[in-house]
Amino acid sequence: MKDPLKIRWGILATGGIASAFAKDLSIDPRTRGVEDIEHELIAVASSTSKTKATAFLQSCDAPSRAKAYGNYADLLEDPEVDIVYIATPHSHHYRNAMQCLRAGKNVLCEKAFTVNALQAQILVKEARSRDLLLMEGMWTRYFPLSGYVRENISRGRIGDVDRVIAEHSLSYAGLFSDDKHIMINPDLAGGILLDGGIYSLTWVFQALWRKDSHHPKQQPIVKSEMAKYGPTGVDGMTTVLLEFPRASPFGNAHAVAATSLGLSNDAVAIANDVAVPCIRIQGQLGEIQIFPPAYRPTRTRIVLKDGTVEDKNWPQPGPGVGSGWFNGYGGVHSEGEGHGLFWEADDAGRALKEGRKEGSQLGLDESVLIMEIMDEIRAAAGLRYPDAVETTDL
Ligand SMILES: NC(=O)c1ccc[n+]([C@@H]2O[C@H](COP(=O)([O-])OP(=O)(O)OC[C@H]3O[C@@H](n4cnc5c(N)ncnc54)[C@H](OP(=O)(O)O)[C@@H]3O)[C@@H](O)[C@H]2O)c1
Repeated sequence: MKDPLKIRWGILATGGIASAFAKDLSIDPRTRGVEDIEHELIAVASSTSKTKATAFLQSCDAPSRAKAYGNYADLLEDPEVDIVYIATPHSHHYRNAMQCLRAGKNVLCEKAFTVNALQAQILVKEARSRDLLLMEGMWTRYFPLSGYVRENISRGRIGDVDRVIAEHSLSYAGLFSDDKHIMINPDLAGGILLDGGIYSLTWVFQALWRKDSHHPKQQPIVKSEMAKYGPTGVDGMTTVLLEFPRASPFGNAHAVAATSLGLSNDAVAIANDVAVPCIRIQGQLGEIQIFPPAYRPTRTRIVLKDGTVEDKNWPQPGPGVGSGWFNGYGGVHSEGEGHGLFWEADDAGRALKEGRKEGSQLGLDESVLIMEIMDEIRAAAGLRYPDAVETTDL
């Protein structure tokens, strides 16, 4: 066995998900059966101060040699950084990703990839012209659970996928102390579609936009309704109906992708073991159910018409019980359990090793297509962010 390739990471931003990612990087990949890749956090940059970046490193189990930068530009000049993980609000992804690419850095950029499809297209063009890796950090696609779901669809266990019902919501109602919160602030491209609806769409696309589908790919027809969050005018609840054209005796495939800022009862349901599936992928032979939360599910059920019921649990690996280690993100994980962002980090690392220029489970054309669909949904409801956020000027 060859020595593992060390992937040297830089992180832009010091917020919640940056911290969860940094901690996941610190976990030995062998705890999840990965032997070809290793990760090292080389540096983190804060847009505001070096003090903040230093405090971040101290709180994230970072290696002692990891560097703290007080601005993003300095990190991009660091020759030790192979790849940058962008964890700024989505309003800033386009600008930050372009800065990285122009500095010759490979990029793993948090979801939502950008604010609109045009920004995404320009980034893709830039990355391709520079032969750099560009990958949307839609981490859920890289979970073994997602691989299992895709494989069971491909094996035809439920027959052709006729319908997907996907729901992902967050119970934020009443929790905003002011209108500047990232989830509702138009200046940060707030609203539930870009933050949470993207997961519902992800599951729809994992089921109905597969490379191995025998139906030729045709873009879905999209209809939607959006309810606005009054104080700031971003979307508080969005429901999308997608129709995927195909030649089938059962007609076109349908999907519902729903999302809300106030309706989730995931935490209560999970704690009381009464969770109902948030994703149902249905065919003529049965259905695959995925239990909440849709962004980080750990439980699946396959129910077939022949009476088969297959339940599976998918705990996130990590140092394990007794390690005294906690990822700590959102306060939801038990001792020794990773958040799960390492799966996408491994895929990015393998891309660098293989010379691949996009994610293995979410290519750039698909990221752009999903951004186009979200543009269409926003346009139908008249949700446009401030020009400074929608712009492609830098
Ligand atoms: N994969 C997931 O499960 C997941 C979960 C949560 C969020 N996300 C995504 O990750 C991104 C960041 O979300 P988050 O929850 O980590 O947000 P957050 O906690 O508010 O952190 C965002 C960070 O971005 C930096 N930043 C730069 N310019 C900023 C500005 N003008 N306003 C606010 N912050 C600014 C700040 O760090 P510095 O100033 O120190 O640079 C800040 O700490 C979003 O795109 C979100 O959709 C993904």
